[in-house]
Amino acid sequence: MEFELTEEQKLIQDTARSFAEKELKPKAAEIDEKEEFPAEQVKALFDLGMMGMLVPEEYGGAGAGPVAYALALTEIARGCASTAVTMAVQNMVAEAVYRFGNEEQRRKYLPPLVSGDLGPGAFALTEPGAGSDARGIRTTAVKNGNRYVLNGTKVFITNAGYSKLVVVMAVTKKDPKEISSFIVEPSFPGFRVGKKEEKMGIRGSNTVELVFEDMEVPAENLLSKEGDGFKIAMTALDGGRIGIGCQAVGIATAALEAAVQYAKERQQFGQPIANFQAIQWMLADSAVEIEAARLLTLRAAYLKEKGVRFTKEASMAKLFASEMAYRVCHRAVQIHGGYGYVSEYPVERHLRDVKVTTIYEGTSEIQRLVIARNLLRE
Ligand code: CAA
Repeated sequence: MEFELTEEQKLIQDTARSFAEKELKPKAAEIDEKEEFPAEQVKALFDLGMMGMLVPEEYGGAGAGPVAYALALTEIARGCASTAVTMAVQNMVAEAVYRFGNEEQRRKYLPPLVSGDLGPGAFALTEPGAGSDARGIRTTAVKNGNRYVLNGTKVFITNAGYSKLVVVMAVTKKDPKEISSFIVEPSFPGFRVGKKEEKMGIRGSNTVELVFEDMEVPAENLLSKEGDGFKIAMTALDGGRIGIGCQAVGIATAALEAAVQYAKERQQFGQPIANFQAIQWMLADSAVEIEAARLLTLRAAYLKEKGVRFTKEASMAKLFASEMAYRVCHRAVQIHGGYGYVSEYPVERHLRDVKVTTIYEGTSEIQRLVIARNLLRE
């Protein structure tokens, strides 16, 4: 058993950490307050090669592997949660196009997607009536000659207002139901970006509705084959869930750092509140839980890197990391007292940002369902 990172993994982690410290952390509060998409920071991540970390070099990616990607994403989330989810979804989409795209699709779409010309990519699965029940989607794709005609509405789609490549899931056959995945460009006739959501947290990330009205998609943009769409989505989400676990660990780390600093500075009863056991226990519990979650995310990433099935481990990492991160951010606010409730300090933002990690890419309840189903099958 080996806990040591490779030299390359350490280098990637250090690069992400120093970028997050210098370029993300100082701007995160403003990005949140103005609900501003972090375009400059996202461009810098493309230039750093962090937007195609799971795509081989021959298609323009970094080919860094799931462990290095997990390390980098955790550091980015420690600096800015909004930027981290933008990066997470982009890497998930790029990997899906690599994994399920044919050679022509890979050559056409991957280099511009990972360089930033088409990215950040978006992943359009969720619909108004289909969240946890992802197979309940109603968007239809009807083949007509050398095109598919898509009709439907997608909601809560990360990055889609800024994306030039969206992987869209749609129903190609109703009975028995078959779902297929398509590579969609916003320039296709019938594509429209709808309402932009105003969110509790990760307010800098872009979350929009997408409307397809007789949208024409060339038949060659079908990913894999008809009927493979649900498995494509689930496989992408397996990897995506490790990413959300990393995002949670990063946010929790930032919250704990803020809490430690505040506890040492804040004087009450004639001494720093860090001297009080009530505060020390909160800090200690948070540090232990963060470490446990970090190891779960890295273990899931390691299994993915080895090429073995990691569905259960990804769900375990996401479930534990997101729920522990919520507890850690909650404690960080508590340690700050009244100052934790106002925007002068970062912890109220961390608490708002972290909540969604228990919801998107599958709620905690869905992760428990996935874990239990796998346990019972084993
Ligand atoms: N990998 C590969 N295949 C999988 C799979 C996986 N992880 N999970 C399921 N499948 C396959 C099954 O093997 C099965 O195939 P067969 O029909 O050939 O046997 C098929 O898919 C159907 O599987 P289930 O019977 O398990 O499907 P279900 O309808 O019971 O749903 C679910 C399973 C786990 C509840 C799924 O619907 C789910 O994950 N729901 C949550 C959706 C979700 O995470 N949404 C996130 C939206 S994206 C997002 O948030 C991104 C963002 O912007 C940040």
